[in-house]
Amino acid sequence: MKERYFTLITGAGRGFGRAMARECARRGMDLLLTALPGEKLAALAQSLQEEFSVVAHYYETDLTRPEGPGELYRWTKENHYPVKVLINNAGLGAVGPFVSKDAAFYGRQVDLNVRVLVLLSRLFVEDLSRIEGSRILNISSLACLAPMPYKIVYSTTKGFIYGFSRALRTEYSQTHLRVCVAIPGPMHTNAHVTKRINDQGFMGRAIAWQPERAARICINGMMKGKAFILPGFYEKFSFLAEKIMPLSLKLRMIARSFRNNPPS
Ligand SMILES: NC(=O)c1ccc[n+]([C@@H]2O[C@H](COP(=O)([O-])OP(=O)(O)OC[C@H]3O[C@@H](n4cnc5c(N)ncnc54)[C@H](OP(=O)(O)O)[C@@H]3O)[C@@H](O)[C@H]2O)c1
Repeated sequence: MKERYFTLITGAGRGFGRAMARECARRGMDLLLTALPGEKLAALAQSLQEEFSVVAHYYETDLTRPEGPGELYRWTKENHYPVKVLINNAGLGAVGPFVSKDAAFYGRQVDLNVRVLVLLSRLFVEDLSRIEGSRILNISSLACLAPMPYKIVYSTTKGFIYGFSRALRTEYSQTHLRVCVAIPGPMHTNAHVTKRINDQGFMGRAIAWQPERAARICINGMMKGKAFILPGFYEKFSFLAEKIMPLSLKLRMIARSFRNNPPS
């Protein structure tokens, strides 16, 4: 009998993670969904099973707890859910002057955006490298392209994710595993982000994505095994501009564009 493989998505409860879960289910992929404890994953898993005839299990946990990533890995092992695709999506954003958030917030942000992603990658990578067609998809952001004043910690964690993904891909290039990194621009994933997009005025609204559309492009790129996925023209243009623009100029432009945004 053919083995049933699963796609594990962190932060699948809402926003981009939920949109990617739906896109994977639409493609007939069986799912393992994780998010913080609550009621939404049970309902989401059930609706995806009914609509797309896939298998969807869920696991609710705060991944920033020291034991969180290890417990999630053990859950997949104990239940015999072999993972073929790992999507490291859960992440925490913020905008505002550095002092507008306290130390506890930055601890959580670095833990979720960096520590959890590294640990889950480490826990699953050896299993994945032995499975034909396996993938890790790490969700970075357009914010990864340069350190951003007023989004300092967020942008630098996303820069870490970009570098980590490219290097890990290279280490595993002789195996079945392809490590991919998605670099989406702003998406209307929740009320906070939509407010931040609106605070950026016309330009912010013009470049923002509906998460469902970005999810389709990112999952497609992942299936093709692309090293990095830039969903649209603005992302591709920014990626190229980053290569030629001096950092001091970029820092001034970014600071000007975010300086007056209210912290959120
Ligand atoms: N939105 C954008 O404009 C944008 C642009 C580029 C990149 N991204 C990236 O895309 C990813 C998703 O962003 P989003 O806007 O969809 O985020 P979101 O709406 O805030 O959703 C975040 C998800 O992560 C889960 N989560 C949060 N803290 C967690 C924790 N401690 N342990 C386990 N799960 C946790 C949440 O669980 P609950 O559902 O239980 O709350 C939720 O499902 C992030 O990595 C973000 O940086 C977003």
